[in-house]
Amino acid sequence: MMDLRSIELALPGAEQAHRWMIDVWGCADAGRIGETWYLRGSGSHPYLMALADHADRFVRSTTFVCSPDRLEQVAQAAAAHGLAAAPCTASDPGGGSGIVVELAEGEILRFLTGAQTVAPIAGHARASRRVMPVKLTHVVFNAADAEASGTLAEQVLGFTVSDRTRGMVFVRCNTSHHSTAFARSGFSSLNHVAFEMDDLDAVMRGIGNMRDHGFATAWGPGRHGPGDNVYAYYIAPFGPVIEYSTAVEKVPDDYRAGAPDDWTWPERRIDQWGISDKDLNALRVAEETFRFRREWASAPVPLSSGV
Ligand SMILES: [Fe+2]
Repeated sequence: MMDLRSIELALPGAEQAHRWMIDVWGCADAGRIGETWYLRGSGSHPYLMALADHADRFVRSTTFVCSPDRLEQVAQAAAAHGLAAAPCTASDPGGGSGIVVELAEGEILRFLTGAQTVAPIAGHARASRRVMPVKLTHVVFNAADAEASGTLAEQVLGFTVSDRTRGMVFVRCNTSHHSTAFARSGFSSLNHVAFEMDDLDAVMRGIGNMRDHGFATAWGPGRHGPGDNVYAYYIAPFGPVIEYSTAVEKVPDDYRAGAPDDWTWPERRIDQWGISDKDLNALRVAEETFRFRREWASAPVPLSSGV
């Protein structure tokens, strides 16, 4: 078992960012521990986003929950590839323990077992007219060498490349078409964080709710090619690109990975619907805001026992 759970960010004004994510974006409050504020969705993960107050903006980690055997595989492969890694015990809501690994371009991924879940928040979007994300559906990174990053994710994490386009290498860790992707950007940073909504109606209600608060999309609504998911991208006032998404394709184990030539668009099109423009310049600035920072020293990870 392997599932994307949460992202942990550091930034100035974490408390205000937390308030905005609740009042405007639609997340629920998952509490505060020290100077870190947590946000959850309607699903069973104890939190989806951690916002730690800090003088600088950076990504502390992206967290996956997994089974002990998958954790063991990642730990062994990380050691075999000589990647920086360390055992960790989570002090975030839900707890759990496991390892944290730094990939080749500085991306910091945390893998936990034994993390607790919470009772989902009931009430379907269409009935309640609620705007509330369910969970994270993907976290995408910019990469200097997206192809090498995808290969490393396969070799070390046991993930699988689902599709390659001219812009991205999409990577899955379960039946969801992608839980992460590496954008062919020429630099390394957080590209965006996508929140799963109940359905298309919930995405559209989210867009309306954002408009009520004075926020226009930076790109969307639209429907992507690879993954077939609906999207609406925004630039959050505290910096990162965030997305309402829904209906990402479920793929079988033998899904044939597409190549860039399999994913082309007619002239002037970059998605299936063709109803929105992309604010490339604003998105580029936002995508460069959150780099990665390793706050821990590499340490031996005990193998075959204890992890
Ligand atoms: Fe996305």
